[in-house]
Amino acid sequence: MLTKEKLQHIFKGDIIGKEILFYESTSSTNETAFEIGREREDPEGIVVIADTQTCGKGRMGRNWISPPGVNLYFTVLLRPHLPLEEIQFITFATAVAVTTVIREETGLQAGIKWPNDILINGKKAGGILVEMKSSRERMGILAVGIGINVNMSLNSLPEEIRTDTTSLNIEKREDIDRVTLLGKILTELEKGYKNLLKGNKGALITEWLRLNSTIGNSVKVRMQDRTISGTAEGIGDRGELIVRLSSGKTESVIAGDVTIIKG
Ligand code: BTN
Repeated sequence: MLTKEKLQHIFKGDIIGKEILFYESTSSTNETAFEIGREREDPEGIVVIADTQTCGKGRMGRNWISPPGVNLYFTVLLRPHLPLEEIQFITFATAVAVTTVIREETGLQAGIKWPNDILINGKKAGGILVEMKSSRERMGILAVGIGINVNMSLNSLPEEIRTDTTSLNIEKREDIDRVTLLGKILTELEKGYKNLLKGNKGALITEWLRLNSTIGNSVKVRMQDRTISGTAEGIGDRGELIVRLSSGKTESVIAGDVTIIKG
C-alpha cells in the first residue's frame, strides 16, 4: 500500500516534500498541485501523490492511463530561479533522478529518450510532464509530473499502445515496492535540483548523456508542423535535441516526439 505515513518514514527533504498530499483518486496530480499551490504563500516543494488519476495527462495532449493500486503518479511543485530558456533542465534533472533510481532499485537498464521518456528495452515505462503557470503577481510555478508504470500488467491498457509500453514488473518479473521507489526518486530529485540551482548544469548534462538512449541513433522527430529524420547528434545549451539531417545540415529541436529507428 502506498501511504503518506510510509513515505514520510523514508523520505525527508529540505525543499521537496515540506508538504505531502496523498489522494486515493484525483483528476490529475499536476492539476491538483496547481490548485493547492494557488492557496499557499510559498508552494515550492509541495508533493501531490495519487493512487489513481481519472484524467491523467501525457505530453502533446495525450492521456496518461492511471489504473489504481499498481503505479506511481505524482507531482512536485517547484519555483526555480532559472532563466526561462533553461527550464528544460528541470525535465532533464527529473529524468536523471527517475532513471538512476530505477537502475539502482531493479538492476534494469532504464534509459532516457529525449526529452523525457523513460524506456526499458525500447518500451516506455515512464514519462514526465512539466507544466508552468504564472500570473502577474507571481513568478512562474512548475508542476513536475511523473508517471511510472511499476506493477501494471498490459491488460489495463488500450490495445494500440501495448506493444510500445512496459512496466518494471513486466521487465523484472517481480513486484517492486512503490513507496521505496518514490522515496528514493524524491531524494535524488532534490539532490539534482539543488545542484542545478547552484549552476551545475554541466554535471547534469554529463549525467543525462550517460543515461540517455537517444544520442547516436537514427531518429524521426515529429514536431507540431512537420517531421524530420536524421541522426541525433547531441544536446544544445537549452536542452534542445541537435539532429543531423541527410543534407548534412543540423536542426535544433525544442519540442517534439522522437522515434528511434532501429538499424
Ligand atoms: C508523457 O506523456 O510521457 C508524460 C506523462 C506524465 C504522466 C504524469 S502522471 C503524474 C502527473 N499527472 C498527470 O496528469 N500527468 C503526470
